Amino acid sequence: MTSDTAIGIHDLSFATTEFVLEHTVLAEYDGTDIGKYHVGIGQRSMSVPAADEDIVTMAVAAAAPITARHGVDQIRTVLFATETSIDQSKAAGVYVHSLLGLPSSARVVELKQACYSGTAALQLAIGLVRRDPSQRVLVIASDISKYDLDSPGEATQGAAAVAMLVSADPTLIRIEDPSGLYTADVMDFWRPNYRTTALVDGHQSIGAYLQALEGSWKDYTEQGGRPLSDFSAFCYHQPFTKMAFKAHRHLLNICGQDADPAEISRTLGLTTAYNSVLGNSYTASMYVALASLLDHADDLTDQAIGFVSYGSGSVAEFFAGTVVPGYQGHLRTAANREAIDRRQPLDHARYRELHGRSIPNDGGVHPVPRQTGAPVRLSALDHHKRIYELR
Ligand code: CAA
Repeated sequence: MTSDTAIGIHDLSFATTEFVLEHTVLAEYDGTDIGKYHVGIGQRSMSVPAADEDIVTMAVAAAAPITARHGVDQIRTVLFATETSIDQSKAAGVYVHSLLGLPSSARVVELKQACYSGTAALQLAIGLVRRDPSQRVLVIASDISKYDLDSPGEATQGAAAVAMLVSADPTLIRIEDPSGLYTADVMDFWRPNYRTTALVDGHQSIGAYLQALEGSWKDYTEQGGRPLSDFSAFCYHQPFTKMAFKAHRHLLNICGQDADPAEISRTLGLTTAYNSVLGNSYTASMYVALASLLDHADDLTDQAIGFVSYGSGSVAEFFAGTVVPGYQGHLRTAANREAIDRRQPLDHARYRELHGRSIPNDGGVHPVPRQTGAPVRLSALDHHKRIYELR
């Protein structure tokens, strides 16, 4: 095995929630000009979880098509990235491992660093496959973005899970070695263990994102990465889709290049189609942007894509991937559109009611109402245990 053996994303599938809240409904309630949501932050709707959905049910819905297509035998590792952890001790991936029927000869672990940890999982997976190319790693990024009602962050909520199979000789994206890294101790967005909603200084968080982009790009170039002109598209972490445009203008600026709006729209536009209707999915967001790009671009064969992963707090990574010839035959475009289109619209009262739901913590037996059409649902809380049910 040489270090130039191709390793990367062999398959990618995403899932989202049962419900959707249109920004027009939110704007009508809070008296905001809809232009602020549609144009100012670039969001049209947000996924809202049903009472019986969580990061595990979304993760299973995302990963099941992958194990159905490729089998489970070569998967010896499951890496579950999330900001929306459901337990201080047990990795959410252990439930997923069981619900998918993965082999017992596997390691499962959960990773956390705000929206960044999906990329940490991808890079760790590549290292594991490099050590033994016969193995495959199931990487899952699953999150529900939740802010306080009536706060500025509310319009940037959302939810989704992405599952990726990482392998040697991948069919979708070869991930390249140079990686630009950046870490700084910033309090721009965080969520103490006792809170279900994130705390954020919104405007500081935008500045922190741009600073981290700058730092990771600088390190990427010092690590021998590609020049900016090599890239035909960029997948940014998209807490709201307008953020990708802000970030790209900043990158062009620090590289001394013109920020031509038509050119920016060409390199970013196709990455935002899904996130503009799903909302922020934290760890999954950049990989949803990749799915959107692959599903909508004409032909990206052998082209280089830049990835900018950012997690508040903060950690960022800039890396590159190239698109594998024949990738179109392995996409899940119809299923991705179906996951978005099948969501049921909520009125504002129903949305607030779902937002206000909390998990009972008295150790009793609490059945959860049946709402989701997902392959797995959270059916009860029983003596502090989450009980999942296959459909
Ligand atoms: N028509 C068109 N545009 C309008 C408008 C209208 N009627 N009214 C306002 N706008 C524009 C504003 O000019 C502004 O655009 P620019 O940023 O380009 O100037 C945009 O709409 C937003 O307006 P405000 O800044 O006034 O909005 P706000 O104070 O409500 O805050 C926010 C916006 C900071 C994004 C807020 O939604 C928030 O706090 N979100 C959560 C935090 C977040 O997503 N941070 C991103 C970086 S951190 C990260 O990436 C990690 C993560 O996932 C959380």
